Amino acid sequence: MDANNQIISVNVEAPYNVTVGWNLLERLELPHKRVALIYDSKLPSSLVKKVSSHFELSIPLPSGEACKSLEVHAKVLSELAKHAFPRDAAIVALGGGATSDLAGYVAASYLRGVAFYNLPTSLLGMVDASVGGKTGVNLPEGKNLVGAFHQPRAVWADLETLQSLPERVWKEGMAEMFKHGLLEREAAVPRFFEKSDLEQPDFLSTLARSIRVKAEIVARDPFEAGERAHLNLGHTLGHALEWASNHSLSHGEAIGYGLLYAAILSRLENRSTWMGKAAEFLEWMRPSPLPTRNFEDLIPLMARDKKATSDGLKFVLLDGPGNPYTARVALNRQHQAFQEFLKVVDNIEQRASASRSLLPTPEVP
Ligand SMILES: NC(=O)c1ccc[n+]([C@@H]2O[C@H](COP(=O)([O-])OP(=O)(O)OC[C@H]3O[C@@H](n4cnc5c(N)ncnc54)[C@H](O)[C@@H]3O)[C@@H](O)[C@H]2O)c1
Repeated sequence: MDANNQIISVNVEAPYNVTVGWNLLERLELPHKRVALIYDSKLPSSLVKKVSSHFELSIPLPSGEACKSLEVHAKVLSELAKHAFPRDAAIVALGGGATSDLAGYVAASYLRGVAFYNLPTSLLGMVDASVGGKTGVNLPEGKNLVGAFHQPRAVWADLETLQSLPERVWKEGMAEMFKHGLLEREAAVPRFFEKSDLEQPDFLSTLARSIRVKAEIVARDPFEAGERAHLNLGHTLGHALEWASNHSLSHGEAIGYGLLYAAILSRLENRSTWMGKAAEFLEWMRPSPLPTRNFEDLIPLMARDKKATSDGLKFVLLDGPGNPYTARVALNRQHQAFQEFLKVVDNIEQRASASRSLLPTPEVP
């Protein structure tokens, strides 16, 4: 093993390791005779071949969110059954968070549960989706409405896979890294790494640190009975925006907006001052435009949030970095925060278009 690789333990009932580093896929060995690889069909074929040559069966999935449906889930289960995969077989996911959510749910449900391993290929997959055992699919009525907890046996986050990641998807992953930095007890908001920083040693150590934030919260609350809800910082408005856009706004972009909204709500509720950092992040990220400026459109979508109980909706707020809590917020406060949010977003967009207009006009040949 490369001395620079880092290992993070996830101390749940059956503990497992997340290994982060370079050239991990080449050395993959699993203690199972029969293994099915489930992978995102949009990945470079060289990447898939590196892994598929180790395994008996390879099942391609529709790329990204399109794989997270009951139809795709049923097709993959049938494929495993046709090949008579037994109980001691294993499922390996190769792809971003959407792939690991679907493949994990297949592993959780096939023969009432088989071994599961994760090879995340997106930044978001590495720091968030591949760790913690939440698996599932979407329904037409909403995201992640069906699923199960099924922890992987191991996760290998090979940085080489990130080389083909589109810049936009990279930035979306940084939104979750930014969120983990805000949640970290030692309050370590990371710098916003560009994809060109991939080979810098401090990127690897920051990535490992970000995964540790998630691993520690998951270990303290594996079934989201309490503290784990803090990982939903920025997700209440974020998910609502994602649904309102019919997924043209990606998860990471929506979380970028959601974190700014959570920062404004936090300031109004507890006078904390991390809003500047959230605005800076959004300016760096340059997400697609908001799907709506009308808060009334978002209220019913926010009500679908998983932190909503029969008593109503709760938000994750931050009383300064490293100090999250959940709270109900009066509706007029939510409205007020949204109006401030729109002003900040408008300012960011104006600055972005001013800087674009300062760029030299390309010469016409
Ligand atoms: N289970 C959890 O705890 C958890 C946590 C956070 C998010 N999620 C889920 O994760 C999903 C978002 O994850 P994501 O951002 O990784 O999305 P994704 O899996 O949809 O990947 C985003 C895009 O990047 C492409 N891609 C991924 N890796 C690539 C690579 N190495 N090279 C080239 N292209 C690549 C995919 O084809 C897709 O088009 C959502 O469905 C979300 O609900 C789950």
